[in-house]
Amino acid sequence: MRVPTPISPFLLLLLTTTFFSTFTTATPRPSPSLPHRTLAGISVIDTPMVRDAQAYARLHCSPSTYNHIMRSWLFGVLHLSHDPALASKVDLEVHALGLMLHDLANNQSLSAPFITMDRRFEVDSAFAAADFIRSHPDGKKWPDYRVQRVWDGIALHAEPKLALYKEPDVFAIYWGNELEFSWDRPGGEQKGVTKEERERVLREFPRPTEGGGGGTLAFIAWWCRYKPESTYNTWMQPFGELLVPGYSAVGHRLIDRSLAAVGLNMSDILK
Ligand SMILES: *[C@@H]1O[C@H](CO)[C@@H](O)[C@H](O)[C@H]1NC(C)=O
Ligand SMILES: *[C@@H]1O[C@H](CO)[C@@H](O)[C@H](O)[C@H]1NC(C)=O
Repeated sequence: MRVPTPISPFLLLLLTTTFFSTFTTATPRPSPSLPHRTLAGISVIDTPMVRDAQAYARLHCSPSTYNHIMRSWLFGVLHLSHDPALASKVDLEVHALGLMLHDLANNQSLSAPFITMDRRFEVDSAFAAADFIRSHPDGKKWPDYRVQRVWDGIALHAEPKLALYKEPDVFAIYWGNELEFSWDRPGGEQKGVTKEERERVLREFPRPTEGGGGGTLAFIAWWCRYKPESTYNTWMQPFGELLVPGYSAVGHRLIDRSLAAVGLNMSDILK
């Protein structure tokens, strides 16, 4: 009788990795074959990469930003649990890293790691996340397209006009973060997440008791004041125009370039 050859752990890992990174359409997730744990009563993927990304976010983010990224991840997982068709197409590790690392450069200290003067914070965060993956022993084995999905998901997490038409991973990363804001906005999307589920997440990772909406506006105003170059032609620009004395995007806007190209400027047109 032939003795079956035991599958080496390495081969098993390779098979699992290949299966889950290549054929992401058939299996509802979280799959019992992927390790998972329970967080705030929610079943989440639990791999060394995911744990290390969480620790990395805790190290580099303030406690309130950390709680925000954890809520975003959990809201994202809840969204997937209410949308099996989407969930069947989402790579849960990419999804977890995209959400947990999306604010690495959202830091109001110009000397913090990952911050550049000209790039918007989403792009700085995307590069920081890609660097984290590339230097992680497991991440080194990731095919480029997975790193790219994390990069895109983070870079586009505040750009619905692009993110909503991207791959399911990028789309789902967008919604994880967006549900943090849209769930209780009048008429906002809830993506099936119930009040009870949301409250469980908020109990585990509470919001700051002070600041609220004003805190968010102060945060946006900070970028417009101290990193204005990174805000022109982005969703932040109108906030700067409204909130920051002396802020002006004139001369930096796409329209200024177009007008200059045909030898016109705004005052010529308004004449
Ligand atoms: C900014 O980065 C520093 C150093 O990594 C960290 O201690 C601080 O909590 C970060 N701030 C925010 C708002 O995440
Ligand atoms: C725009 O045109 C006005 C008059 O036509 C001129 O005074 C002004 O300097 C121009 N501005 C720029 C930025 O070229």
